[in-house]
Amino acid sequence: MVGLPARGKTHIARRLARYLSWLGYSTRVFNVGNYRRARLGSQKDQSFFDPDNAEASAARAEVAKVALDDMVAWFADGGEVGLYDATNSTRERRLQVADRCRAAGLQVVFVESLCEDEEVIESNIRQTKLHMPDYANFDPERAVDDFRQRIANYARVYEPVVPDEGSFVKLIDVGRRLEAHRIQGYLPSRLVYFLMNLHPIPRPIYLTRHGESLFNVEHRIGGDSLLSPRGEAFAARLSGFVAKEIGEDREISIFTSTLRRTIETARPLGRTTVEWRALDEIDAGDCDGMTYEEIQRRLPDEYESRESHKFDYRYPRGESYRDVIRRLEPVIVEIERERTPVMVVAHQAVLRALYAYLMDRPPHECPHIEVPLHTVIKLTPTTYACAEERIALGPTASAITRP
Ligand code: F6P
Repeated sequence: MVGLPARGKTHIARRLARYLSWLGYSTRVFNVGNYRRARLGSQKDQSFFDPDNAEASAARAEVAKVALDDMVAWFADGGEVGLYDATNSTRERRLQVADRCRAAGLQVVFVESLCEDEEVIESNIRQTKLHMPDYANFDPERAVDDFRQRIANYARVYEPVVPDEGSFVKLIDVGRRLEAHRIQGYLPSRLVYFLMNLHPIPRPIYLTRHGESLFNVEHRIGGDSLLSPRGEAFAARLSGFVAKEIGEDREISIFTSTLRRTIETARPLGRTTVEWRALDEIDAGDCDGMTYEEIQRRLPDEYESRESHKFDYRYPRGESYRDVIRRLEPVIVEIERERTPVMVVAHQAVLRALYAYLMDRPPHECPHIEVPLHTVIKLTPTTYACAEERIALGPTASAITRP
């Protein structure tokens, strides 16, 4: 990462880390600020960041090196994407980082956040910086002043990344403009694609399964059945919920799968919906339409195999949770891109995968996340994560859980 303080570097690094971990890469953020606070104490005033303060500059360079050493060691241990989260504000510092990484055989992409919009900077200082341990027990106005001085100290020596430094992406004014240079290969390209769609505007994301289906009543998996009477009652309640929560005049983007039970659940909302094949339920292949008891009886090896490694288990001629995550990637980018509230009406396995991304849960946990029928999960982005609320709308549906 590259950028002056309060340019959203940590936010971007964490969002990238969440996305890449969810896609299955071993990913970790190395935040040099945390190393500094742990090693040198958190309460340093702006003079500590003055480039003319030789002693402090040496101490800062030292903690940056320790964090870099840790990152390189972590790569040697099997890490795949390391996000080195620091200001890296001079060409000299970046050269040291890049030389060290390249010597270890690592590919380097600089992600620079540039922003001169005073309103954005002010809001970033107030929302995130004032809550840092650096300013615990500080008068807020004094803290804002001190942080502004800290930024000014960095700005005196700041050098933006230039083309001869190698691959980079520049996010200018919170993604209003993006510049990419020498981005090659699959992963760096995914990174740019993701960053192009990222924005910091918080809006709720609602996840809900379809109303109870006729297959749910019979405890059968998969299929394309219609709603049961209880499922229809849920659809009507969902419509009332959205009308109250969003109101008639506000927009909400509604995504469904291409299966009838989600389309029918969204119909009473009376709004435009987008059908995504990527949101269709996990493909149970040869087991589609069976109950779990039938699978256990007729295909005991398959049943046991799924029990023992549910995340990687792939149904014969069907999918695994890992496969589901892969096909959901464009949906995630679309959810990130939307600036209005989003409601996803989908299925148990698919929503578990989306939930794991939004709540930053390790992917292998997703087959076990609870996503009950007739319950709306409301996730509201906070600075670095999401706040969660579960709203049970009823009526009580038949429990479809593994025997
Ligand atoms: O039972 C409902 C259902 O959506 C099935 O169609 C699907 O196979 C299943 O849930 C996914 O849950 P699990 O991975 O726990 O079997």
